[in-house]
Amino acid sequence: MPASANDKDVLLDIGELTAGYGAQPVLHGISLHVARHEFVAVIGANTAGKSTLLRAISGLLPQCKGRIAFDGKDLTKLKAHEIAGLGIAHVPEGRHVFPEMTVEDNLRMGAYARADQAATQQSLERVFELFPRLKERRAQYAGSMSGGEQQMVAVGRGMMLEPKLLILDEPSLGLAPLVVEEMHQRFLDIHRSGVTVLLVEQNVSLALHSAERAYVMSSGSIEIEGSARELLHDDRIRKAYLGI
Ligand SMILES: Nc1ncnc2c1ncn2[C@@H]1O[C@H](COP(=O)(O)OP(=O)(O)OP(=O)(O)O)[C@@H](O)[C@H]1O
Ligand SMILES: [Mg+2]
Repeated sequence: MPASANDKDVLLDIGELTAGYGAQPVLHGISLHVARHEFVAVIGANTAGKSTLLRAISGLLPQCKGRIAFDGKDLTKLKAHEIAGLGIAHVPEGRHVFPEMTVEDNLRMGAYARADQAATQQSLERVFELFPRLKERRAQYAGSMSGGEQQMVAVGRGMMLEPKLLILDEPSLGLAPLVVEEMHQRFLDIHRSGVTVLLVEQNVSLALHSAERAYVMSSGSIEIEGSARELLHDDRIRKAYLGI
């Protein structure tokens, strides 16, 4: 049974969210929830507003009306760094690693707000276990890594926050199919380790095979929601997104 927004174990609860960048809203009354320990995907065509929704959660939008609650706390009045401090790591679209910094320094940036050196070191070791490649390349400049490796750096940097909720925006964009597959296995590992995951993904088949539940966005609204299994068999999804 998918969790409903009334269940007490809802971690992220969004209601009637209208938001955007200027006078014209991009999101029109979005309601969505993610239960604690759930893996939820958001899919939808280009410009549907998926990244905008993620930015609203992370406190990166100037205009925001409606409810965004995380672990019972209202996020709508908080600044981005305060939201991160509550345990929300946002891995943005396009990766955005610091190219002139080493892999290890990029990762450490993810823990900049944490004073505990020993705990930070432990998080770093965990990221290296998740992505052994990053341990091998820890002294390399991030800008000289492959696209897939840079995506690992971006995800690893998010994990340095020891998040409760990991938000991933199009992590497979521009990557080779094998790398994408590998990356999704790591997301499943992260989820199994107890982290709640909210994934925006253009690869609808992969998204619905990784996530437990999904929302389909269209023109700034939620069009369809359901369990990933239901959506994989939904004719509308099969025609519009899976080309079947
Ligand atoms: N920084 C911005 N300033 C003004 N408008 C923006 C900004 N970013 C996005 N938009 C607009 O908001 C709408 C939704 O964009 P958004 O990036 O959220 O879509 P998306 O679903 O993530 O698309 P994609 O699949 O291409 O990543 C678009 O019409 C876009 O032009
Ligand atoms: Mg986007």
